[in-house]
Amino acid sequence: MAGERIRTGITGYDKMLNGGYMPNSVNLISGCSGTGKTLFAVSFIYGGAVKYGERGVYIALEEDVSQLAQNCKAVGMDLESAESGKIKLFDIMSLQKMSASPGEDKTKNNPLDMDTFIDLLKKNAAGAQRIAIDSLVPLSLKYANVNEFRSELFRLRVALKGLGTTSLLTTETLLSSNDVSRFGVEEFLSDSVTLLKPTDDEGSLLRIHKIRGSDHLRDAVRYEITPAGIRVSYDDFKATI
Ligand SMILES: Nc1ncnc2c1ncn2[C@@H]1O[C@H](COP(=O)(O)OP(=O)(O)O)[C@@H](O)[C@H]1O
Ligand SMILES: [Mg+2]
Repeated sequence: MAGERIRTGITGYDKMLNGGYMPNSVNLISGCSGTGKTLFAVSFIYGGAVKYGERGVYIALEEDVSQLAQNCKAVGMDLESAESGKIKLFDIMSLQKMSASPGEDKTKNNPLDMDTFIDLLKKNAAGAQRIAIDSLVPLSLKYANVNEFRSELFRLRVALKGLGTTSLLTTETLLSSNDVSRFGVEEFLSDSVTLLKPTDDEGSLLRIHKIRGSDHLRDAVRYEITPAGIRVSYDDFKATI
């Protein structure tokens, strides 16, 4: 029997994970554009709040929160509803405003450095049980080489662990590649890695690449984005990526 798990709230995915994420773990979802990474990340935070009463922080680094809220509503997640009160949403604009020094132009589009980001995280996410960062790609922009970004990601991992939360990070792969991550380093900083892949017949497959310290389903499973949210067909379809 698995120990305590943090259920994502996506039923079939939780079954694949042997119950959910490990408590206080850092989890990566990786896939090319349009595979549903954002919707998985929002489901983790929304499900946490609505189904399990957990406080969550969602940091959207690639879209603004009003756009996000609109997209999520179409798939059954109302981020503005009363039951979403346990969720704090941030986007790049709101983070830049908070980090600007007095008199500085708060609207200028500077990439965030990891120091600033970790500071903001500590100030705004203290007490949260779940954090999603979607995606890591904008956090790489300040760093000219991958080794430097890798060590910055390590600091992010330490900060997330220090907050006592369970977190979900996303990263974007190229459509044509078989890589597990964009920079080839994110997976080393993560306790679990889940891959999302389009199929030739316009479907989508989910595969858990690793979970540190736990068994998991090794097969790929088909999933769909429906008006009622993400449906992972754990019981009725399996295939191999
Ligand atoms: N209301 C909806 N109904 C069905 N599919 C949707 C809906 N909204 C979004 N999608 C699907 O979700 C995908 C986008 O999901 P998203 O999480 O933003 O992807 P990513 O973050 O990986 O780029 C779209 O490609 C679309 O297929
Ligand atoms: Mg996205």
